[in-house]
Amino acid sequence: MPFDPEGSAPLSHLSLLAHHPERLLALRLALARHAPGATVLDAGCGALGTLAIMAAKLGAARVVGVDGGPLPMARQLAEENGVGDRVTFLECDLDEADAAVGPFDVIIGMVYLNHPRLDLARQQLMARVAKRFAHATTVFVPDRVRLSVAGFDTRTADATGETKSTAWRETIERAESLSGLSMRAARFLVDPDWRKSRLGLAVPPLSPDARLTARFGFPDRNTMTQLTDREFVAEAAYAQGAPQPSYPENLEVPVTRAGRLDGVIWRQDIVAGDLLIRSTETFQAVDAAEPVIPRETLTLTLDDRWQRNVPATVTPG
Ligand SMILES: C[S@@+](CC[C@H](N)C(=O)[O-])C[C@H]1O[C@@H](n2cnc3c(N)ncnc32)[C@H](O)[C@@H]1O
Repeated sequence: MPFDPEGSAPLSHLSLLAHHPERLLALRLALARHAPGATVLDAGCGALGTLAIMAAKLGAARVVGVDGGPLPMARQLAEENGVGDRVTFLECDLDEADAAVGPFDVIIGMVYLNHPRLDLARQQLMARVAKRFAHATTVFVPDRVRLSVAGFDTRTADATGETKSTAWRETIERAESLSGLSMRAARFLVDPDWRKSRLGLAVPPLSPDARLTARFGFPDRNTMTQLTDREFVAEAAYAQGAPQPSYPENLEVPVTRAGRLDGVIWRQDIVAGDLLIRSTETFQAVDAAEPVIPRETLTLTLDDRWQRNVPATVTPG
């Protein structure tokens, strides 16, 4: 049969590992802290069972990896890495896995797809896993999934540079979290007033191609204007007895800049203790672009309709 890399679960897991090294390193650090001597569940372990095998290599006493997909390669890799005697792989739905294999000291749950809507279902899955497989002091990796959102005019570059500065401020916060270093001294680099007064930096003119990237690709802050602050949506925290993850049905976001609001950027932060494992952004158009001015309120409706474009209304302040 000809080689067909498309749709190969092992290959998509390999590229997840290789192309997001910060994710892998943060997970490895979290497991180095918590796995030694522990019993570990890798919920949704994937075709390669990498995190289960890594936990065993880092000294876990016993590891169970569970995934709905086939796991023959995960078993081979566990043998190849000398941990086949401590790692068991179960091919079944997590909701149907036998609770008698637990409870576990550590539960790994890297099951997310980086889309806020799909991932609410995955958060709820992990809450059910916690109920069935955690004890009172189980450590979860990740232990929190946080969602936030901001509204944008994606067709107009921000001549003041504030949109880019905000993105840089958030980048510094991520760098602080990933490195464990405080970087307050670097913040002056991205302060818009400082930039304007000392450097006179201007946002480069927009090319038609850049507009296209902003509308359909990964959000490029050079070509858009942020019209709201970033607003907290929800945080799922995993622990035995934690509340069921949910999003508010209507989310109110205060408008801070005038413009034509045509989309939102969701950000999902996957966190384990003080480690940021992964931060991803998803652009979504609103159902109808709206002119907005400061002090108005943007209401996003997160009911079943936000599969494609998110329903949005604007009310006066
Ligand atoms: C994004 S992949 C991540 C794989 C692996 N945890 C990693 O980080 O490399 C998510 C995995 O969760 C599994 N999964 C999702 N829902 C599941 C369920 N209800 N029961 C079992 N496995 C599930 C999928 O089959 C998929 O392999």
